[in-house]
Amino acid sequence: DVTVHRDPVRLNRVIRALRNAGRNVALVPTMGALHAGHRQLIREAQVMQNTVVVVSIFVNPLQFGPNEDLAKYPRQFESDVDICRQERVGIVFAPSAEDMYPEGAQVTVHPGPLGDELEGVVRPGHFAGVLTVVSKLFNIVQPTYAVFGQKDYQQLQLIHKMARDLNFPLDVVGVPTVREYDGLALSSRNAYLSPEERHHAVTLSAALTAGAYVSSQGGDAVLKAAHDVLAQTPEVEVDYLELRGVDLGPAPENGDARLLVAARVGTTRLIDNIAVLLG
Ligand code: PAJ
Repeated sequence: DVTVHRDPVRLNRVIRALRNAGRNVALVPTMGALHAGHRQLIREAQVMQNTVVVVSIFVNPLQFGPNEDLAKYPRQFESDVDICRQERVGIVFAPSAEDMYPEGAQVTVHPGPLGDELEGVVRPGHFAGVLTVVSKLFNIVQPTYAVFGQKDYQQLQLIHKMARDLNFPLDVVGVPTVREYDGLALSSRNAYLSPEERHHAVTLSAALTAGAYVSSQGGDAVLKAAHDVLAQTPEVEVDYLELRGVDLGPAPENGDARLLVAARVGTTRLIDNIAVLLG
């Protein structure tokens, strides 16, 4: 059965014992409100042989801006643990904010320039908050593998970069985005959408697939096709639509690229992205 740990020090001791006994540890960091996207990450983590899967559930205050949804972020701990049990997770790690950020904690991880682009423009400090909590989780759980979704593509790239730049001894694994029947990327924030907003929200993934569909015609055609779809739904207020390289550097003329979008539908902010093969 799944074991729930709240205390980082005790969890760290349990993990050391497991690793000394020859087990691999796979970490799936989450903020809870688990859905089929999170389940997919857990299943990906189970694929590795001889592995204990640790799911962390922690709504990280450090990554929310002052005007963001920290207070109303969905919290459903009991049903999250049920999902973890169904998925044969070994350990759920659910620390308190006080244990993660004791009085006087001041040192954080600086994401570098990519932290100020795309999401970072609208969410200053967000990625410093993400990288700080993820590095703490890496140190507490000491995983062999850490599994993240491509849904949050910039987050995934920054975590890859942090693991490399700061020598975390683990493999970062990226998992393709799980979608609803109509293409909408699963997200805990979809719960905020009214039925009408839910209907408009499909525009994000529709725009991305329209762009990817004309990828052989080059970057300008991709952006135009995606933009034209977004323009048909004025209820969707676009923050950015950008074509980048797979590492989020400038897009190449030809070859692998990534198309990323962020938009507000009512008061809910949604993001999505898709792989594009240019030329
Ligand atoms: P959260 O939004 O709960 O997402 C946890 C993980 O699930 C992330 O790696 C995210 O990319 C992945 N995920 C979310 N929706 C997905 C989908 N539709 N398909 C595939 N994967 C999906 O991302 C965070 O939490 C936090 O920033 C965290 C990394 C836990 C740090 O606090």
